[in-house]
Amino acid sequence: AAENGLKGWLRYESLPCSSQCRRNLPSGIVALNATETSPVYVAGLELQEGLKDIYGSHAQITHSQCETDSVVVGTIDQYRQTCGRMDEPPELDEDGFWLSTSGQGVQILGQNERGALYGAFEYLSMLAQGNFSEVAYSTNPSAPVRWVNQWDNMDGSIERGYGGESIFFKDGGIVNDLSRAAQYARLLASIRINAVVVNNVNANATTLTPQNIEGLGRIADVFRPYGVQLGISLNFATPQILGGLSTYDPLNKCVIQWWTNVTAQIYKRVPDMAGYLVKADSEGEPGPETYNRTLAQGANLFAKALQPYGGIVMFRAFVYNQLNESNWKADRAKAAVDFFKPLDGKFEENVIVQIKYGPIDFQVREPTSPLFANLFHTNTALEVEVTQEYLGQQSHLLYLPPLWKTVMDFDLRVERQPSVVRDIYTGKRFNRKLGGSAAVVNVGTNATWLGSHLSMSNLYAYGRLAWDPTEDAQEILEDWIRLTFGLDNKVLQTLTRMSMESWPAYENYSGNLGIQTLTDILYTHYGPNPASQDNNGWGQWTRANHKTIGMDRTVSKGTGYTGQYPAEVAAIYENLDTTPDNLVLWFHHVNYTHRLHSGKTVIQHFYDAHYEGAVTAQTFLTQWESLEGKVDPERYEDIRRRLDYQTGHSIVWRDAIVNFYHNLSRIPDEMKRVGNH
Ligand code: GCU
Repeated sequence: AAENGLKGWLRYESLPCSSQCRRNLPSGIVALNATETSPVYVAGLELQEGLKDIYGSHAQITHSQCETDSVVVGTIDQYRQTCGRMDEPPELDEDGFWLSTSGQGVQILGQNERGALYGAFEYLSMLAQGNFSEVAYSTNPSAPVRWVNQWDNMDGSIERGYGGESIFFKDGGIVNDLSRAAQYARLLASIRINAVVVNNVNANATTLTPQNIEGLGRIADVFRPYGVQLGISLNFATPQILGGLSTYDPLNKCVIQWWTNVTAQIYKRVPDMAGYLVKADSEGEPGPETYNRTLAQGANLFAKALQPYGGIVMFRAFVYNQLNESNWKADRAKAAVDFFKPLDGKFEENVIVQIKYGPIDFQVREPTSPLFANLFHTNTALEVEVTQEYLGQQSHLLYLPPLWKTVMDFDLRVERQPSVVRDIYTGKRFNRKLGGSAAVVNVGTNATWLGSHLSMSNLYAYGRLAWDPTEDAQEILEDWIRLTFGLDNKVLQTLTRMSMESWPAYENYSGNLGIQTLTDILYTHYGPNPASQDNNGWGQWTRANHKTIGMDRTVSKGTGYTGQYPAEVAAIYENLDTTPDNLVLWFHHVNYTHRLHSGKTVIQHFYDAHYEGAVTAQTFLTQWESLEGKVDPERYEDIRRRLDYQTGHSIVWRDAIVNFYHNLSRIPDEMKRVGNH
């Protein structure tokens, strides 16, 4: 039964084979020149298994002949060598592929082996959805970096992970049985993810002991057949903590030598290592500031060590200091631009600055990080979270892509030119060669990977959007539903509706109007705790008192944050009248009685939204229950239990928040639901 979860969207459930299906199914599989453990070899096996599981058809795999009624999978070069010239070879970038079902047989040709494997998964995804349409197209990735980050600790725990223990680490070392790691790579390859940073950004120096480097090598070995590369998070002070040096100054010769050596050792074991991820001078992590060096000098230390091997440094922009709330000019949201803008152009070419979607920290609603509009000579990547840290921790249904899209699709209007964020981090807007995205995923040993079956839609969609951020969030979701729960139309309609309603509902019963979050920020990041935002140095303030609420981030009266955006965007947010309701409290400090564009007051919006959100959450349970019998009992019941919990917890949220602001403001609810009446 556990298989249900482990297979994720690669279920390949049996479907009836119509006459069209019989006509179109290939009779054999040609995996061109494949050596065992190569992605093309894996592609052949995947095709064989998939054809068998879905349509009960038994196709033999061969490796060298170009049968016309077969599915041929390989690289363009392999195809040329074995099958002869191509009249019009498709134009493919690295990792891209060509898929044709329109001639005799099926052609799946990658620019490289990885691309060929992606194409095989794409073809299988069509078959698994009963789709026999004739297609012939090439597709290329929007960007070369399509990574996931795991925040796994060496002791086997996972920071902000809600799906059990680490599949990689235990007791300070790498686990012996890496079969789950291999299955993870398979899932990731099917959504075209090409690297996994396996250890926590809050990195432990012992990750780089010789023994652990050997263990990381074993992880890379099980990833490799799937075209997935290994990445490693670094602790900046490793030369001191592990290496016994008296310093970790990035300009010190011994320190440089230390990183050069350890990098050489890693590449000796893992010749295709993707690169390093570095969190420095952030939340207590060591960094270059200790030695009065810049963040760029810190990043470049690793960049230079990696250059001989073609590796990349993902350098995190999540750098900020604790602040004093009595200072109305202080603003954590400004930190990233303050730190990184002056360093634009000072990073080596193989450094990518990895930027969280909003300027604070993965909240239910944030404006787009203005850092994307302030780096013109630096590679950038977008960072999102699949793990639902502040967003219900997998106990609440929350389909995230509509939230991510508010940032990916946002036009920053740099120099009054179209400057959509997805064109910035993929390198198009400012002509950068490197760029892409990273998602903090945090799967674990749980049989559902993430801790909840429904959360897997977010991982699936992340991969699809990393490949092509212009894709539609709902269409991606529909594919995931068919692949995960079969082709029943009612299941499709119902799960689509629930999922698409889930983020607006969560925003409604948690933090509204750009208040950012009202969840507990001090310890758990879970459940309502509106008082936790203020009276501390974390800078996630609401500045709520008995009359007013919100952060004034204007240039004219507030923190000046709006000035970090290009003029056209800044003008919209600077002015209360043009600021959208859903961000009003992010940008402005207003009375509870301030009237929104919607016509409601701020306080009445709080009350209404919380009731509406909880009502919607309750329908998730009844919507799901209408599918009883259409989903296998194990998954049906597991999901039902979670939605039942969410129903209750949305009411806990609702009451905590409406009562808190009612007590603070003493303003009655027009609908008389709040307080004693
Ligand atoms: C959040 C999260 C931390 C994490 C940090 C980061 O603050 O709660 O656990 O270390 O982000 O992204 O570095």
